[in-house]
Amino acid sequence: MDLVKERNKRTAWFLKDRFGMFIHWGLYSIPARGEWVMTNEKMSKEEYMQYFEEFDPIFYDPKYWAKVAKNSGMKYAVMTAKHHDGFCLFDSKLTDYKSTNTKARRDLIKEYVDAFRTEGLKVGLYYSIIDWHHDDFPHYGDRHHPMRDNEKYKDVKHNFERYLEYMHGQVRELCTNYGKIDILWFDFSYDDMTGEKWKATKLINMVRELQPDVIIDNRLEASGENSGSIMTNNPNFYAGDFASPEQIIPPEGIVDENGNPVPWEACITMNNHWGYSSEDKNFKSPKMIIRKLVECVSKNGNLLLNIGPNAKGEIPEESLRILEAIDKWMKQNGNSIYNCGKSMLPKPEWGYFTQNQNKLYAHIFDGSIGPLGIQGLNGKVKKARLLSDGSELKLIKPWNTMDYNDYIFINFGKPEHLTHPLPDDIDTVVEFELL
Ligand code: GLC
Repeated sequence: MDLVKERNKRTAWFLKDRFGMFIHWGLYSIPARGEWVMTNEKMSKEEYMQYFEEFDPIFYDPKYWAKVAKNSGMKYAVMTAKHHDGFCLFDSKLTDYKSTNTKARRDLIKEYVDAFRTEGLKVGLYYSIIDWHHDDFPHYGDRHHPMRDNEKYKDVKHNFERYLEYMHGQVRELCTNYGKIDILWFDFSYDDMTGEKWKATKLINMVRELQPDVIIDNRLEASGENSGSIMTNNPNFYAGDFASPEQIIPPEGIVDENGNPVPWEACITMNNHWGYSSEDKNFKSPKMIIRKLVECVSKNGNLLLNIGPNAKGEIPEESLRILEAIDKWMKQNGNSIYNCGKSMLPKPEWGYFTQNQNKLYAHIFDGSIGPLGIQGLNGKVKKARLLSDGSELKLIKPWNTMDYNDYIFINFGKPEHLTHPLPDDIDTVVEFELL
């Protein structure tokens, strides 16, 4: 089996859609100090159970969430079905530690997949292979477990095989009971907890049998720290279909040892937390997020932008405001993102290029003094349009450009040889139809 060929076939839609919503939601939304609160504050299971008893997301409205995602130009979503704290947002028959046993009394994942599919988005599930609730997951001495240095657990024996049966069983439930799943986002491997420690080959074989078209990330053997064997010319069977750089955009995009492009998706928070944080108001501007989406696409990558809904099931106001601004820009300029990737031209100093066959998109972040010059397009342009409103842009050659014959020039006002403001301060996109 040619794993790379199979992977490229499966990810074709993913590399066209480019932009997705990550949703981190669960019991940790109550303490509101991020999704690692249980281990950061070394809470025991018993202490953390207070949130299970309390969880009552009275405003959870996945239909609204789906509309927000769709209106923001997102084409797919990935929602936490189980995070490291082990709490299941779905009606698993393998545990009582699940949303249907809380005051919510709802299968939150079922409602999510139904709502997002109704809006025409592809649905992904994030599933943590780490589990700080399950008795058979290693506690004492583990690198991340909340009880990692609690002497009480020093001599406790864990039946890891039994944990793997549980974990594989839940993945089977998610791949069986929730219709067509488009993305399985496992998280994450570390130290010796990687690859066949998870029985990854057996797990992937089961997943592929149940969901043959699903795409899978690389974290059955990797994490945000490293991309794993997907980067080599001999990837493991469980290397995954895409790399998942976290809170960073790869400087050069991602290629394997042979220089072949590797599908990749940068996952980025809006503030600095995945799970809801009541204190973290350090939200990125819409301008920054839009420009980072453009950067990802210009490097053949995707952007998975995170929201962390609060304990009541509401998307934070700050996130809604950002998504509204993205909505406006994407409605006008989405053609320069969807079905686009790395262009034939090198990165210009004033922004980025993206390209979709004979359509080249110039993403102009910084205005120019006088007309804006683009090298390498001489004699290659059929027409140029301001993408946001479709208005014609003439290729010009005012007197102050005479020395630069291997450039084409455009400008956004008259007289053509002088300096004019960019139509869109966030990112002015010019569509060049190439001959
Ligand atoms: C890291 C964090 C996890 C988060 C994930 C998102 O793995 O441990 O909390 O869900 O990044 O990529």
